[in-house]
Amino acid sequence: KKIAIFASGSGSNFQAIIEAVKKGELEADIALLVCDNLGAYALERAKNEEIPYFVFNAKEYDGKEAYEIEILKKLKKHEVDFIVLAGYMRLIGKTLLDEFEGRIMNIHPSLLPAFPGKDAIGQALTAKVKVSGVTVHYVDAGMDTGPIIAQKPIEISEQETKESLQMKIHQVEHELYPKVIQQLIKEGISVKK
Ligand code: GRF
Repeated sequence: KKIAIFASGSGSNFQAIIEAVKKGELEADIALLVCDNLGAYALERAKNEEIPYFVFNAKEYDGKEAYEIEILKKLKKHEVDFIVLAGYMRLIGKTLLDEFEGRIMNIHPSLLPAFPGKDAIGQALTAKVKVSGVTVHYVDAGMDTGPIIAQKPIEISEQETKESLQMKIHQVEHELYPKVIQQLIKEGISVKK
């Protein structure tokens, strides 16, 4: 199966997916990286691995539909079957959902439905919860609202900082996400509309 990764930032999850493919643990072809940030380190990773990428500046388009039409063209050109969001900081719009809903997943750094949206790690620390974690879910039109596929709890210690929790979360994500993608590809993602 061919997958496209969408990322806006450092792309450490993207890298974990690349490594899982190299090890044969994830039987997928990373056909494309879609990136909305010209300065994202994820782009360097794609270049290093010779993975095709499409990078765009949303400000140069007349709204979400306009840039998603361009993304859709690239996805079709590369015959992408599944979209894997890995730190992509935009909501997916109707253009992509109409074609891919049920075949788009996201990873979020909290136990959803707690702490959706931006800075889930900061939100968890402010709320002083003892346990947070990681969620993989299908993507719908909402902000981190789609059906949950997998979750892993992470304990928050007394002296936890944003940095230390971020590190724990990344470790869990890098192990969990490739596994879940492999499961979904093997079992076939059901199209939920
Ligand atoms: C991850 O923590 C993910 O849960 C969230 O964004 C972060 C991306 O990190 N959606 P990276 O770019 O993969 O390093």
